[in-house]
Amino acid sequence: MHALVTGCAGFVGSHLTESLLEDGHDVLGIDCFNDNYARRDKFSNLARLNAFDRFDFVPLDLSAGGLEEVIDECDVVYHLAAEPGVRTSWGGRFDWFVRNNVLATQRLLETLARSPDKRLVYASSSSVYGNAERLPTSEDLLPQPYSPYGVTKLAAEHLCQLYTSNFGVQTVSLRYFTVYGPRQRPDMAFHRWCRAAVLGEQVRIFGDGEQTRDFTYVADIVAATRAAATAPGAAGRVYNVGGGSRMSVNEALAIIAELAGRALQIEYLPNEQGDVRNTGADTTRARAELGFDPQTPVAEGLAAEFAWMLEREIPQVAA
Ligand code: UGA
Repeated sequence: MHALVTGCAGFVGSHLTESLLEDGHDVLGIDCFNDNYARRDKFSNLARLNAFDRFDFVPLDLSAGGLEEVIDECDVVYHLAAEPGVRTSWGGRFDWFVRNNVLATQRLLETLARSPDKRLVYASSSSVYGNAERLPTSEDLLPQPYSPYGVTKLAAEHLCQLYTSNFGVQTVSLRYFTVYGPRQRPDMAFHRWCRAAVLGEQVRIFGDGEQTRDFTYVADIVAATRAAATAPGAAGRVYNVGGGSRMSVNEALAIIAELAGRALQIEYLPNEQGDVRNTGADTTRARAELGFDPQTPVAEGLAAEFAWMLEREIPQVAA
């Protein structure tokens, strides 16, 4: 299989690409190195991928560049490139979210409409649900995003579905629930808290810490994403991908304190706009149709992320 991975230098994109390469697939990776966090982190993700012979990289902005050539080269597209972040999607940066989430996806789909038998797996988000009326939440519940980011992820999901219904493009949308693990994005909670714990700095919590998330380990996300590329009957479908161990922020902090072997200095701040209270995935559909079976409890996955952070920030201690 020759795969195209958009956003290959990002957190989930680099893990997915590595997994495909390790299993002997050819991968063409593209990334535009948007400035949502330090480019050196993305370059270091890319350096790992460049070690594989079967990996090719093209720097490309999906919202502007010509896409025919890269689509021609592949059999399947994993579309992970995005402008991520719930809390940063307000105000002046919104045009980046429209461009990198909505326009970029529309341009990919337009190009794929010329060869509709190639499947596109789209990385959607639990943020499409907003403050869901029911937990765990099934895909049939009407999505009602609570942040501008969620609106753009849902808009792109709708685009996927209408290119399926109008042009027969094989799209599969996966609603990822708060993904974590080594190389996690620096704006995300576990990254920030592990870093603060390792360096002995203050941990900042938005709200009372009793909000819950269905935290999902990156290897489980990769498994679901790869299954979505081949599962028969998945085209045109939407799936929740959640780790199955929903817990509160305060509970997650207790695990980090244990890993750090010391009490954390915690500062509680006001809630951030756009943050929902709870998320929880009903994964019945993904289990039945994609064979999804998450393997990593939060305590185990957080230990892996903490070890990665220790190595990154104070390698002499990790060694
Ligand atoms: C995450 C990702 O950032 C989105 O890209 C993704 O689409 C989304 O998951 C999703 O599942 O839909 P979020 O759930 O906000 O969004 O993930 P975290 O940044 O890990 O935050 C988890 C919780 O910790 C939130 O309640 C947040 O307010 C809180 N938090 C975060 C803090 O209290 N302090 C921080 O420094 C960071």
